[in-house]
Amino acid sequence: MTAHRKDDHVRLAHAQYAPASEPSRPDETQWPNQFDEVRFVHHALTGTDREKVSLTTRFAGVHWPVPLYINAMTGGSPRTGEINRDLAIAARETGLPIATGSMSPYLKDPGTASTFSVVRREHPDGFVLANLNAGATPEQARRAVGLLDADALQIHLNTVQETVMPEGDRAFSHWAPGIARIAAAVDVPVIVKEVGFGLSGRTVRELRSLGVHAADVAGSGGTNFARIENDRRDRPDYAYLEGWGLSTPAALLDARDCGLPLLASGGVRHPLDIVRALALGAHAVGASGPFLTTLLDGGVDALVRHITTWLDHLTALMTLLGAHTPDALAHCDVLLTGSLRAFCLDRGLM
Ligand code: FNR
Repeated sequence: MTAHRKDDHVRLAHAQYAPASEPSRPDETQWPNQFDEVRFVHHALTGTDREKVSLTTRFAGVHWPVPLYINAMTGGSPRTGEINRDLAIAARETGLPIATGSMSPYLKDPGTASTFSVVRREHPDGFVLANLNAGATPEQARRAVGLLDADALQIHLNTVQETVMPEGDRAFSHWAPGIARIAAAVDVPVIVKEVGFGLSGRTVRELRSLGVHAADVAGSGGTNFARIENDRRDRPDYAYLEGWGLSTPAALLDARDCGLPLLASGGVRHPLDIVRALALGAHAVGASGPFLTTLLDGGVDALVRHITTWLDHLTALMTLLGAHTPDALAHCDVLLTGSLRAFCLDRGLM
């Protein structure tokens, strides 16, 4: 059942990135991608020299060569093991950190171990993140980290997905104390993330009090897990939940200054979105659906080219914005427009 679900997720996520000519259903529940409402004020003399730009980033005691990572996706079935292998090869060739998908299939069936450990095997010197749900026990968290010799642990929060998922969890109140127990039990940094519905400032403050080290706001605008789970349901479904959540820029604005280092993912389409997220306070930016789509459509070489181009353009954009480091982008002059501006005004963020 779990292996089947993991294959479904890959297939249905990939379908969301199909050419827009044939949308699977009307899009009235979708907001526009709010990254488009983040604009840089152009200053024609702020440019620096490309050779002075460094992509290295630091947060929560972690040091990454680039502020870009392959975010959690998969593992648990033969096909998803192959995908993890190919993602890890691309991560190795480009120096990107990489997260596996949720390792709960491994905890239920140790026979699936190789579909996750292949990531460490292919990226032996890289930064690898294990991934679990918030219901895991400290002992399970240690096993997941141990299998990968992981450098950090991601814990995903996905109440909306579970609600829409036919076989999903229906009890969430034990998650917060469970996160605190895991954070106290593992000896690697713990990063809590959403799966595409965003973390609010209130959530990030709570995570800080639970002993978490960083938060990936993982907002809406990209892969839509309400839609994926609706596509796996018999009708009637929860179509009206497909517009739920905070976009990635809105979540970053809500959560900055909440006491935890932030990462950003969800709806990142191109290098300008990476730069926008960094300017709103993220220390690094993740992508899942776009990388998966390139891999499935074009293979590992295409994914390596995709990532290499993004890193090249990221350096170019930092050069024209005069930012020597990813963190320096936070000093850029940014204009917020449209619904994102209205959100900030409503929330007292500006
Ligand atoms: C995901 N995502 C995810 N997240 C997580 O924490 N654990 C998981 O097991 C999965 N599984 C998963 C499968 C597939 C096929 C996709 C595409 C994504 C969510 C992912 O990490 C990310 O938060 C969202 O996909 C939003 O980012 P993008 O896809 O818009 O870049």
